[in-house]
Amino acid sequence: MSEKKAFPEHVAIIMDGNGRWAKRRGFPRSAGHLAGAKNISRVVEAAMKAGVKMLTVYAFSTENWKRPEAEVTFLMHLIPRFCNRMLKKMMENGIRLRTIGRANDLPEFARKVLLDTIEATKNNTAFTLNVALSYGGRAEITDAVNAILNDPNRPQGALTEADVAKYLYAPDMPDPDLMIRTSGELRLSNFMLWELSYAELYVTQTHWPDFDAAALQEALDAYAGRNRRFGEVK
Ligand code: FPP
Repeated sequence: MSEKKAFPEHVAIIMDGNGRWAKRRGFPRSAGHLAGAKNISRVVEAAMKAGVKMLTVYAFSTENWKRPEAEVTFLMHLIPRFCNRMLKKMMENGIRLRTIGRANDLPEFARKVLLDTIEATKNNTAFTLNVALSYGGRAEITDAVNAILNDPNRPQGALTEADVAKYLYAPDMPDPDLMIRTSGELRLSNFMLWELSYAELYVTQTHWPDFDAAALQEALDAYAGRNRRFGEVK
């Protein structure tokens, strides 16, 4: 765990600032989300070229259900649009789609296309795109605890961290090495609370729809300059 990698294998991104990007241009917020969804494809391509193996993007949080109904509906309809638009690219480039979060919260029309796309791409091995949908870090830990309580084969006695980690949404995925947040806020916003424990954090003022290959490279360069100690003295 304490081996420093030259570039991060797994990058997590809080894709913030779609609304501000749109407002600055006099567009409705939905135009910002549309541009933001399109940008995922561009950043996946750049991440693959840079040698990153896995990207987790925060697309919809458990708190986002409290947004105005029209905005929630727009974001839900973006899910099938995004899957349909990305499928060809994912098949051509060996990209596997996954999700973390409470998939059962999603409307049926969105969940169906999502599950079909996950199934269609499940044997792709070059890159993993993991989309957090109806995701909350506390919800994930709570769901893990409930899954342990409901598992007749659960480990007996005091649980270890490794035991708990096995019940998270994607227990086979390595923890993110780097977490990028766009649009300047200095918060975790309930994102991957367990998995980001030792991640390097990088915040840029750039709004998500403007976050391009050069912006990603800046984040990777910043990561390369960090000294990861994992609590140890080197
Ligand atoms: C934050 O911007 C962004 C979100 C809450 C949604 C992120 C969603 C996407 C990038 C596209 C959705 C993709 C799929 C696959 C559904 P904000 O609205 O909070 O921006 P603001 O802080 O400037 O208002």
